[in-house]
Amino acid sequence: MAKLDNLIEQAQQKPHSLAKDDLLYLLQLEDKGELDRLFKGAYALKSRYSGNSVYLRGLIEMGNVCAKDCFYCGIRKSNTKPKRYQLSLEEILNTARETFEKQYGSLVLQSGEIESEKHTLFIAQAIEAISSLTQGKLGLTLSLGEQEENVYKLWREAGAHRYLLRIETSNPNLYAQLHPASHSFSRRLECLRTLRRLNYQTGSGVMIGLPGQTRQDLADDILFFQNEDLDMIGMGPYIPHRDTPLGQNIEFTESFKQTQLLMGLKMIACTRLQLHDVNIAATTALQALHPQGREKGIKAGANVIMPNVTETRFRADYQLYENKPCLDENAQQCRNCLTMRLAAIGEKISYGVPGDPLHYKNRNSGQAT
Ligand code: 5AD
Ligand code: FES
Repeated sequence: MAKLDNLIEQAQQKPHSLAKDDLLYLLQLEDKGELDRLFKGAYALKSRYSGNSVYLRGLIEMGNVCAKDCFYCGIRKSNTKPKRYQLSLEEILNTARETFEKQYGSLVLQSGEIESEKHTLFIAQAIEAISSLTQGKLGLTLSLGEQEENVYKLWREAGAHRYLLRIETSNPNLYAQLHPASHSFSRRLECLRTLRRLNYQTGSGVMIGLPGQTRQDLADDILFFQNEDLDMIGMGPYIPHRDTPLGQNIEFTESFKQTQLLMGLKMIACTRLQLHDVNIAATTALQALHPQGREKGIKAGANVIMPNVTETRFRADYQLYENKPCLDENAQQCRNCLTMRLAAIGEKISYGVPGDPLHYKNRNSGQAT
């Protein structure tokens, strides 16, 4: 049997069974037939753990005010183009209610990174109000960046139980090239570990296809997810934004898009093969590169989709990257569109369930992989 099929079979039998060299080999595949086998192998594992269904997380882009200046991000502090906004408590609650009524099962609150007492208390208030509105039946994820331990603790106690904090890249040198000197890799890592210690269901991830990023870095990223014992992975291709230092000189050609999409899908497949029971998102960045990008992500092993539920009028000002899809579609339109898209690939949406990652359940019952 070919090396590829051996590796896939070995990975399917037991988590954590691919060595770095194996991951490097899988990440360099280009042949269409071989890629099909890789994606099918990972999708079979996704089906083993999640059946033919996908969990939804409604994403509220709560505000685009950001204290950080990451070189790749469209809402970085130094970009003067986006109109800065912050949703009111009432606006957040209205969207949360709609998401709950639509049976999405879970909600993500995301915004630019702000560390202030006012912001901390506002978020705590929003979490409490959402929890009481939905009687704790709506999974609640935060994606609000680096914070002090007592802030994470306050929000956890207020009712949030998941947190997403991407490490962006597990290579500290590359991290330093992508951020101003004031941004610290080690603090970010410390935050991730604190979240896990506070018993959040913890998610992280990276950008894929960054300038200067090597295949070695990507293989290391997967081993990083493994070593940090993460419950959820949210990663997506890097997409240039013209108003950022990193994106201003990159041409967004068809061949660039194809390369980014393919590496994004290979990373999803390899991560599923290596980690088995985690939740993996087919992120919106995939769809910015291809109309069926998210469906392709599911077919490569992802089991979560995060449709945007932010009121349409705010969406244009929350463009972390260009070519962002669904700018004009409201939540109902996205829900219908997604149902149809998933049906087309033989998948359905698990409505009304929070969709906790199996890995979190397993690690708390001592069976974690
Ligand atoms: N391309 C792709 N992803 C991006 N993000 C920020 N800017 C970009 C970009 N240009 C991602 C980061 C961040 C998440 C919220 O969005 O990984 O953690
Ligand atoms: Fe938003 Fe298709 S998911 S329009």
